[in-house]
Amino acid sequence: MADSIVHCSFCAKHKDQVVKLIVGNNAAICDACVDFCENLLKDRKKFAKAAQEKSAVLDPRSIKDFLDQHVVGQDSAKIVLSVAIANHYKRINNADNDIEIQKVNILMIGPTGTGKTLLAKTVARYLDVPFVVADATCLTEAGYVGDDVESLVAKLYSASNGDIQRCQRGIVFLDEIDKIARKSESATVTRDVSGEGVQQALLKLVEGTKCKIPTQGNRKSAAADSVEIDTTNILFIASGAFVGLESVVKKRVQGTSMGFGATFNTDAKTETVTAEDLIRYGMIPEFVGRFSSCVNLQELTKSQLINILTEIKNNFISQYKWLFDQDGVVLEFDTESLDTIAERTLQTKTGARGLHTELERVLLPHMFDLQRYRRQNILQVVINKELINTPMTLIQENS
Ligand SMILES: Nc1ncnc2c1ncn2[C@@H]1O[C@H](COP(=O)(O)OP(=O)(O)OP(=O)(O)O)[C@@H](O)[C@H]1O
Ligand SMILES: [Mg+2]
Repeated sequence: MADSIVHCSFCAKHKDQVVKLIVGNNAAICDACVDFCENLLKDRKKFAKAAQEKSAVLDPRSIKDFLDQHVVGQDSAKIVLSVAIANHYKRINNADNDIEIQKVNILMIGPTGTGKTLLAKTVARYLDVPFVVADATCLTEAGYVGDDVESLVAKLYSASNGDIQRCQRGIVFLDEIDKIARKSESATVTRDVSGEGVQQALLKLVEGTKCKIPTQGNRKSAAADSVEIDTTNILFIASGAFVGLESVVKKRVQGTSMGFGATFNTDAKTETVTAEDLIRYGMIPEFVGRFSSCVNLQELTKSQLINILTEIKNNFISQYKWLFDQDGVVLEFDTESLDTIAERTLQTKTGARGLHTELERVLLPHMFDLQRYRRQNILQVVINKELINTPMTLIQENS
């Protein structure tokens, strides 16, 4: 029966006219028709996925689960962030409803190296949206030396590979936002072009405006080829260490605590931050109002630092093990050494960033000699407490 079928049942081509004819029970299909059908199915899957993405309601718990895999601790920050993100995408995915939901941008406050940028990056990875990190200190008011605020949108547009729709759903992460606090509460005589001026310039962008972004060439040149980006649905996450905010909070709490029995808990120093504190710190009220979801990150503890070294996905230790492994050398750390690294890092007050510095310091001489180890058949390096506590002796010069 099968031998008698010599034509494709779809395009009717003879088997001699095609590369391959697949014959089944009472029917046959040629390679070209298989390709065609495959593309049809692919497109359908793509449309189905896009439709699903559009209508999908994000579950804050799933966002937090994902964050837990990459970021250690910071539980309350993760919860606030997950809810804010879920609400943001609920709002923009269902824009055709009767109630107009206001955009809530996110402000992250926490000491250096505690995971602010990492949280934002991880969220963007989870959502699969374009993401850019920009330093607020590089921004100036339009017309002054430096980048004007629209450069943020231009960056996001290039991160979206020129896809306007994707760009308009992206995330802009504004780092070092505390550095654009105005210098003092009283009005300044000279124009504050890199502080209050930038905050003013950011207001419109954050709230939602249409910017013209040149698609090529110099941004400041004639707007020959440009696209219009609506920033209404772009999520802005601002972040900063806000050094000194603690004393602003303390002052307020002490001032108002009389008669109310309120106590100030220094461990939860940023837990009680209010809009009023941020304004006192130097942020303008309109700016604070647009970042109404406030996320507080805490200083990392010793055991959390150890987890960052050894537990989370792509942890620091496994990264270095991999590097050593490339030269066929096994790298090990004894438990005490990990404890010592975490302890020393705590003292530097640089958060998890300091872990990297410690590891580099300890491992650098070994990484320099890996090829020699291999030649001498040294196949394992075990790091102990003594090695961690020994100051780095780089290459000894032979005289
Ligand atoms: N909670 C954490 N969990 C896992 N890794 C962390 C955490 N915090 C920091 N790290 C690690 O430390 C590095 C620096 O963290 P990150 O860039 O997020 O700090 P930051 O809070 O943004 O600091 P800064 O205020 O200086 O910008 C990250 O690359 C990450 O590997
Ligand atoms: Mg950062």
